[in-house]
Amino acid sequence: MGPVTGVRSSLVRRLTSRSARATWQLGRRLGAALQPGDVVALVGDLGAGKTQLVRGACAGAGVDEGDVSSPTFAIVQTYRGRLPFHHADLYRLADLDELYATGFMDLVGGDGALVVEWADKVSGWAPAERLEIRLEEVAGHLDSRRIALTGTGSRHAALAEVLAANTGARPGRRRVPRRVPEKKP
Ligand SMILES: Nc1ncnc2c1ncn2[C@@H]1O[C@H](COP(=O)(O)OP(=O)(O)O)[C@@H](O)[C@H]1O
Ligand SMILES: [Mg+2]
Repeated sequence: MGPVTGVRSSLVRRLTSRSARATWQLGRRLGAALQPGDVVALVGDLGAGKTQLVRGACAGAGVDEGDVSSPTFAIVQTYRGRLPFHHADLYRLADLDELYATGFMDLVGGDGALVVEWADKVSGWAPAERLEIRLEEVAGHLDSRRIALTGTGSRHAALAEVLAANTGARPGRRRVPRRVPEKKP
């Protein structure tokens, strides 16, 4: 996955999910907002909650949740919902050549929404304009996940904004800059 850089501006929103259910609900909100051509790159270790989020997204996009599984053997699966919902998992891929061979690249920015687990496993596939969702565990809090949403380009920035607004998950703690005492002249 290429770095999020360039002239397109990115919007970053952070929040903390306190339960698997809250992550599912965040996913559902994402699924309800998805439009054809959207690209969602999920990044996070095993057990971070990527699939949990995808399950919610499927529900939000009108996909029968019974259809959803981890694309263990297939790199990508397409579910039928309100729009075609392509669910990919790049965990087992070695490189970009291998990814091209699967036909995955035809789905990028295509007729459906593309949601990719282990998006950082292979670099070079992702369009600059995408929504990147990073999930990470929180030491000492089994059911908490820190979630960072980075939307690049106006469409995906809007998605990040919508998702971070009035979510069931509480907003992440903001870093308040320490006030530096003014020096007397
Ligand atoms: N806040 C949370 N968000 C997501 N999953 C959570 C959370 N708290 C606990 N979990 C648990 O963590 C696991 C996440 O698994 P999964 O979604 O398959 O991860 P991944 O696809 O990233 O490997 C599930 O067992 C889920 O119940
Ligand atoms: Mg998974």
